[in-house]
Amino acid sequence: MTLSSLLLALLIAPSVRSSEPSNPPSQIHLSVGLDPSKMNVQWSSAQNLGESHVLYGSSADDLSSKVLHKVGDDTSGWSDVYQYKAVPETGPIGEPLRFGIWGDMGTDNAQILDSVKKEVEKGNFDMILHVGDFAYNMNDDEGRNGDAFMNSIQPMAATLPYMVDAGNHEAAYDFSHYTERFRNMPANAEDTPTVVTGNGEAPNNWFYSHDFGNVHFVAISTEIYFDYPDLVEAQYNFVSQDLASVDRSVTPWVIVHGHRPLYCSCDSDCDSSADTVRLGPDGKFGMEELLHSHGVDMYICGHEHNYERMYDVYNGTSTLATVNPPSTVYVVTGDAGGPEEHEKFDRPKPDRAAFRTDAYGYSRMTVFNDTHLYWEQVETDTDAGVEDVVIDETWIVVEEHGPF
Ligand SMILES: *[C@@H]1O[C@H](CO)[C@@H](O)[C@H](O)[C@H]1NC(C)=O
Ligand SMILES: *[C@@H]1O[C@H](CO)[C@@H](O)[C@H](O)[C@H]1NC(C)=O
Ligand SMILES: [Fe+2]
Repeated sequence: MTLSSLLLALLIAPSVRSSEPSNPPSQIHLSVGLDPSKMNVQWSSAQNLGESHVLYGSSADDLSSKVLHKVGDDTSGWSDVYQYKAVPETGPIGEPLRFGIWGDMGTDNAQILDSVKKEVEKGNFDMILHVGDFAYNMNDDEGRNGDAFMNSIQPMAATLPYMVDAGNHEAAYDFSHYTERFRNMPANAEDTPTVVTGNGEAPNNWFYSHDFGNVHFVAISTEIYFDYPDLVEAQYNFVSQDLASVDRSVTPWVIVHGHRPLYCSCDSDCDSSADTVRLGPDGKFGMEELLHSHGVDMYICGHEHNYERMYDVYNGTSTLATVNPPSTVYVVTGDAGGPEEHEKFDRPKPDRAAFRTDAYGYSRMTVFNDTHLYWEQVETDTDAGVEDVVIDETWIVVEEHGPF
């Protein structure tokens, strides 16, 4: 697709009956597809009686010319028309890429929601990354809480890719709510194409990767380390092969994201889970060695309900660098707001931590070019009476990407 901007409509063909259509599609959300020419659309229709269409085109008048997909029924109603921008071509970027990043957002107490919806409305982001823990929990109230959550993010997710990884709050029914509600993630793990949940077999959206301009993203499920011993090695092998195959002259930036941290400093409890992900359950198949040996620029996660930006860290040691860091830079951004509220920092700040806060907020990441990335933390916290204030910002400069 060569159009940089497309109009998208999701609709169920309008009823020819005299009664008003009553059940338009809901929970509309987009994902980066298997390559940048694709955009994956997922939605929910209340009934499944016939056909459901996606119409898309470059103007609202021209939507009926192309029918992309059909599922669902014929009588329930049309969605609004949404506009999205095509995923940037893999490789050098013409303009900065802007990402909204957060973790751990509830249906209730979603403190950042209004702020990030406004950002999206203003066109401030090109992609969203939500690093696990949705709705608290999506399976509650027979899944209605998950439906409410998906509808709460629809104003954002229907207009730009809403990329995800799985958190511990998605564990019910073998991660079926995560797996099914985010089926549109670009499942590309050839050796593990599917996963099995309480709802059956589905494309593997537990670990996958995709490009976005000059950035290569890899999603992992940290939950595999705790709940799926049989998948630990498969995920490790996928990440290892995927990272080895990245051409850094095309996508110099490599960012891995998962739900739980490899490093955290809030309470003494957080270390043991971080060590499991970092070093592997039996000291084997841990993530840190992979991130380090392949020169992964950043690891972004949530889980702790706070914000902790670190410098480079390897084996617990940091050189406190943001310019040409000699190992992976780590960020915990898990304080979007939810019923579990804040996670305080009970321990002194370790040297490796550049900035810590337990205030609610979200992160912005702007990739300017192959060497310069700008990172910001925006606090928006009704408990503190703070709305949309940038409390932390830094350049991360990497002049030569590759193995450390
Ligand atoms: C990691 O650090 C520990 C001490 O904290 C040290 O004993 C160990 O040799 C280090 N491992 C590597 C691979 O550098
Ligand atoms: C990359 O972007 C930064 C920030 O705008 C700028 O200072 C730097 O000169 C740019 N580098 C290149 C090679 O364009
Ligand atoms: Fe969590």
